[in-house]
Amino acid sequence: MFERSRKGEHALLIQPHAGGPPDEGLMEEFADLARSAGATVAALLTARIDRPNPATLVGSGKLEEMKAAADASGADLILVNFALSPGQERNLEKALQRRVVDRTGLILDIFSQRAQSAEGKLQVELAQLKHMATRLVRGWTHLERQRGGAIGLRGPGETQLETDRRLLQKRLEQLQKRLDKVEVQRTQMRRARMRSELPRIALVGYTNAGKSTLFNALTGAAAYAADQLFATLDPTVRRIALPGGGAVLADTVGFVRDLPHELVAAFRSTLSEAREADLLLHVVDAADPLREERIRQVDDVLADIGAGDLPQLLVFNKIDRLEREGDSGEGWSAPEPRHDHPAEGRQRVWVSAQLGLGLDLLRKALAEVLELRHVAGEVRLPSQAARLHARLHAIGAIRGEKHDEQGWLLQVDMAIADAQKLYVQAHGEALRPLLEAAGALEDETAGW
Ligand code: GTP
Repeated sequence: MFERSRKGEHALLIQPHAGGPPDEGLMEEFADLARSAGATVAALLTARIDRPNPATLVGSGKLEEMKAAADASGADLILVNFALSPGQERNLEKALQRRVVDRTGLILDIFSQRAQSAEGKLQVELAQLKHMATRLVRGWTHLERQRGGAIGLRGPGETQLETDRRLLQKRLEQLQKRLDKVEVQRTQMRRARMRSELPRIALVGYTNAGKSTLFNALTGAAAYAADQLFATLDPTVRRIALPGGGAVLADTVGFVRDLPHELVAAFRSTLSEAREADLLLHVVDAADPLREERIRQVDDVLADIGAGDLPQLLVFNKIDRLEREGDSGEGWSAPEPRHDHPAEGRQRVWVSAQLGLGLDLLRKALAEVLELRHVAGEVRLPSQAARLHARLHAIGAIRGEKHDEQGWLLQVDMAIADAQKLYVQAHGEALRPLLEAAGALEDETAGW
């Protein structure tokens, strides 16, 4: 059995590329992923692949080069930025005498380290077992025993690899059942939230864009934010206040390019927070030189999970970093938070979640995009509805009033959410015509 490494593993990174120079952004992201899994990058090697070798992905010459690079750099693990077949993985391990983990295995490993809720853990374990099931036949006999080494072996790994396939199958079924149950619960929770009539906003974005930080800044909650990829694996849902009403904000898992499909499947229920939102708050690291590409990649994943057509507001986060980078020593001006309304494309709001810059602007933009609507018009209140009258005053809803022997004739203007609340909680029958006219009277409130 392999021991878990405390120091982290030394990994040789292999970046395959087709014709043309290798993509720097891809390599950088891959190195980030490796570090997120706890590895140190011993060396990085690119491998031009015109036609993937079905047995080893690369040709024999490259294989020798890989072995030499692994020996020279003291790497005890090979990470390949590619979805390898089980056969390729096994053959590479044999030839290189080291563990080989592909992109999917690496991302699964990170997910398994980060998952926090019961649901997240179940989802990752299920995806890992499925990934391993195809590789189960190999065992580890073709590798010499090594010290250290955990990446790709974490979670249900090492011992179960040697166990009977039937047991694995049973475990898969068990997990699936438990997960189905959790999903039902989540759906019920979602329904309850929908009944609360608050618009739903989901934070999406490339991993490390600052979603959790923004979530915390907007909600005042202390969700986990770390300078690591995939700090967020489980959606967290909170209520936020916006001018003109409230909304529900959900944080979601960070996206990467080519998120392995088994993971998209495993995180179906988590990602459905995004699919069922009224608005996606697409967070972008404004200081990332590849930000436009990242936006496209996130859009691709969104399309994959059926959330491609939802309205989006782009949030360019980390403007404080733009400031420093643009500092040429003279005449630079700090980028102010701002809200762009381009003639074409999505609206953009520029903020710094960490420094709390532009958050009010963002709240206003959200209210605007969500059309947190107001109801306005004439309301007649009988004299005995003095309490409702006082509450309307208290929230500043009264624009004009007349009083006669039948009571008040008011001109009011208020957020729909406020009108609904008063209608339900403060015997606000008088507000019914206004709410009805706005189509904002739901079955749930009608009974009150
Ligand atoms: P995943 O969970 O991987 O999807 O990440 P995330 O998008 O939730 O990012 P997170 O909020 O964890 O932030 C990632 C890193 O960016 C952390 O180190 C944050 O402190 C940093 N960060 C977030 N917002 C800002 C900002 O406005 N300015 C700067 N300079 N750093 C920020």
